[in-house]
Amino acid sequence: MTFPAKWGALEAHYSTKMRDLRLRQLFAEDPQRGERFTIDVLGLYFDYSKHRITTETVGLLIDLAQQCELRKHIDAMFAGEKINITENRAVLHVALRAPRDEQIFVDGKDVVPEVHAVLDRMAAFCEQVRSGAWKGHTGKRIRNVINIGIGGSDLGPVMAYEALKYYSQRDLTFRFVSNVDGTDFVEATRDLDAEETLFIVSSKTFTTLETMTNARSAREWTLASLKNEKAVAKHFVAVSTNTAKVEEFGIDSANMFGFWDWVGGRYSMDSAIGLSTMIAIGPQQFRDMLGGFHAMDEHFRTTPFERNLPVLMGLLAVWYNDFFDAQTVAVLPYEQYLKRFPAYLQQLTMESNGKHVTLQGAKVDYQTGPIYWGEPGTNGQHSFYQLIHQGTKLIPCDFIGFMKALNPLGNHHDLLLANVFAQAEALAFGKTTEEVKASGTPDWLAPHKTFEGNRPSTTILADRLTPETLGKLIALYEHSVFTQGTIWEIDSFDQWGVELGKVLAERIIPELATPEPTGNAEPPLQHDSSTNALIQRYRDGKRK
Ligand code: F6P
Repeated sequence: MTFPAKWGALEAHYSTKMRDLRLRQLFAEDPQRGERFTIDVLGLYFDYSKHRITTETVGLLIDLAQQCELRKHIDAMFAGEKINITENRAVLHVALRAPRDEQIFVDGKDVVPEVHAVLDRMAAFCEQVRSGAWKGHTGKRIRNVINIGIGGSDLGPVMAYEALKYYSQRDLTFRFVSNVDGTDFVEATRDLDAEETLFIVSSKTFTTLETMTNARSAREWTLASLKNEKAVAKHFVAVSTNTAKVEEFGIDSANMFGFWDWVGGRYSMDSAIGLSTMIAIGPQQFRDMLGGFHAMDEHFRTTPFERNLPVLMGLLAVWYNDFFDAQTVAVLPYEQYLKRFPAYLQQLTMESNGKHVTLQGAKVDYQTGPIYWGEPGTNGQHSFYQLIHQGTKLIPCDFIGFMKALNPLGNHHDLLLANVFAQAEALAFGKTTEEVKASGTPDWLAPHKTFEGNRPSTTILADRLTPETLGKLIALYEHSVFTQGTIWEIDSFDQWGVELGKVLAERIIPELATPEPTGNAEPPLQHDSSTNALIQRYRDGKRK
């Protein structure tokens, strides 16, 4: 692997000073380290002291960011420049949470008024559904809301609904259908009454195979009960950028909430794609969430890199990914409501930075986006933490905890937080063979019970999980992804890698269709021998 020349100073720093330096030593040499390497801002306490870094490392990482013109790139994004060069699009999710009085221009047009016009329409609609004023075709109020979407049109809504369930209107049921596997739709609807069910068909393009297939099944399911085409107007709304396709599907554009091509799917949960979230928590709390996003946007845009949370988080990801050859990052929220947060982050991080060529189209000669994964604590501790503690792979971890429980119950919360702190401590400092032996372990067993330690983590603590805090946390990761992509000089906002599979599936779909009863021959297969055999096996198996 060869790094660009501007990485040279960091490479030398890594190999001469940092590779073998131990956190035990860093903490022993600097009793204030735990306070010095923390930032307390926007209600987030960000402790990055348990990383294999020194002040010099941070300085060199920031030098790298400067050489990569991170500031200029940030300004370009906020100014609406077309930084998604392969799709010739601006990248303006920050405009989705800009206050009414701000101005952000795309092609000379201020987009903030349109953003708020849609938010206002969403709010009016949500109030109708939440109050029961919006009636279904037979006059019954809506009790069930089903979002149909996939990728960015699903993961954000699901994650936000789960994360903010505590704040949701509990007499409404929310379900999310994404998979083209019919089980997803059937299980989501099996106990629901079509008269009381509203579908939100969420798709930026309104052409996505999974979503359109599920939307058609939803219409059939609705009409099978309500037996009148007019019911569609009361039971279906659409969220999309594609008015023509929405109308073609049969949803009145009066029941459509729009957004714009400068919002990437995985950055769209603040747009009308968040309609289910807004119905769940109400317009005011949705706006509080946007306020949290905006606060982090402003922090990212204006704060010097030394104190800038997304910049530091992004640079640490680069540090481990490219110098320590760490291939993954574990996100470990110690908050049950954040159970879908790691899944949400997987699309955000990996669809953004899973790229192998630079903006100029040259193949990169270094590692780009790491694999993000995780589970809520403490469940992961009884599953995969063994490997993080004693395996052969280095896995930087993000621990996320809250000072206050939303559901206080006995001493549960103390036990939960004790585990956050203990895990980060154990990973960093481990237990030496001498310490193991000193506690009476026989020599032969000591290696098995030794913890090498020196395993890095960030701990993020906040007061309690609120809509606003959730917004801050998501924007933190969004801008960390942007920082990483800027250092790697890749386009973090396109996703060409998902296309080939879609095209090949379109070719295979007719090849799987049941043969005509007239006995027409099945279409000949012209794939590789493996794919041909798999398709043939499926055709035969289906017939039996
Ligand atoms: O999986 C590719 C992708 O294009 C994602 O980027 C996007 O979030 C998802 O499909 C859904 O797309 P749409 O909202 O257009 O249905």
